[in-house]
Amino acid sequence: MIVVTGATANVGRPLVQALAAAGEQVTAVSRRRAETQNGVRHEQADLAVPESLAPVLDGADALYLLVAGGGEGLDPRALLDVAKAAGVRRVVLQSSQITGTRPDAPSHAHLRAFEDAVRQSGPDWTVLRPGGFASNAYMWAESVRSRRAVAAPFGDIALPVVDPADIAEVAAAALRDGRHAGRTYELTGPAPVSPREQARAIGDALGSPVRFAELTRAEARSAMLRFMPEPVVDGTLSVLGEPTPAEARVSPDVEQVLGRRARTFAEWAVRNAEAFR
Ligand SMILES: NC(=O)c1ccc[n+]([C@@H]2O[C@H](COP(=O)([O-])OP(=O)(O)OC[C@H]3O[C@@H](n4cnc5c(N)ncnc54)[C@H](OP(=O)(O)O)[C@@H]3O)[C@@H](O)[C@H]2O)c1
Repeated sequence: MIVVTGATANVGRPLVQALAAAGEQVTAVSRRRAETQNGVRHEQADLAVPESLAPVLDGADALYLLVAGGGEGLDPRALLDVAKAAGVRRVVLQSSQITGTRPDAPSHAHLRAFEDAVRQSGPDWTVLRPGGFASNAYMWAESVRSRRAVAAPFGDIALPVVDPADIAEVAAAALRDGRHAGRTYELTGPAPVSPREQARAIGDALGSPVRFAELTRAEARSAMLRFMPEPVVDGTLSVLGEPTPAEARVSPDVEQVLGRRARTFAEWAVRNAEAFR
């Protein structure tokens, strides 16, 4: 049995579906009650209360550990102790590219602690370090629906954003196949794409043009501070505005694990066009 935390969001949802489609017995975990399909069991548990995972992990072979935000307020060692005590033999952690490209970034200190704990805890481990998600474009859904417009900073700075469905497929491979043990994968899309190009791709998917308006850094910062902690806002703006060469680079890892190229942002926009209509 495979347990997936964060099972109701961008990566967890397609991961649960992919595992169930492959015939695996899956338990989907989140704090709130959720509907599942294909006979998947859903259990409520809170990662902030590690013991709440003990009954969920009973009988599990593998765990996909996906924490919300940067894992603030969670105790990685206590969580991994619960997994080990339950007999979990394989842990796949969803981390972030930034833990590798900016090892001293305060915004990612908790995720780095998760990486350290997973590597030291005993079960086989794989660490996934995705770059920015294509699904971050959902934050433009309301302005595209109401005004056919996207406002974002750094309009022409391109990064190889990754489709959460590709992260989920790599995760499924790592959970099911021991050959990925001890590996750290950096997950990106197949080509850098700027915010202006993303707006155009959404317009193409809708068959109706979407205008792009560039925000200043200060405008973007004050908007982001309404829903993100300050270190995360500043860390995110640095990556979006001044990416390191490693952050702008296309990683070969999705293609190496899946045997096909990574999905483009344009493909993500077509699959998710309904959210913008
Ligand atoms: N967005 C990006 O560009 C990006 C890039 C690289 C890495 N990441 C990393 O990816 C992760 C986010 O992935 P995502 O977008 O798929 O998820 P998400 O949208 O952040 O959703 C979080 C999921 O975890 C559950 N959850 C939240 N707090 C929980 C808790 N205390 N106990 C149990 N379940 C909890 C949520 O359901 P409930 O609320 O019902 O519990 C939901 O299913 C973060 O670790 C982030 O650092 C994101």
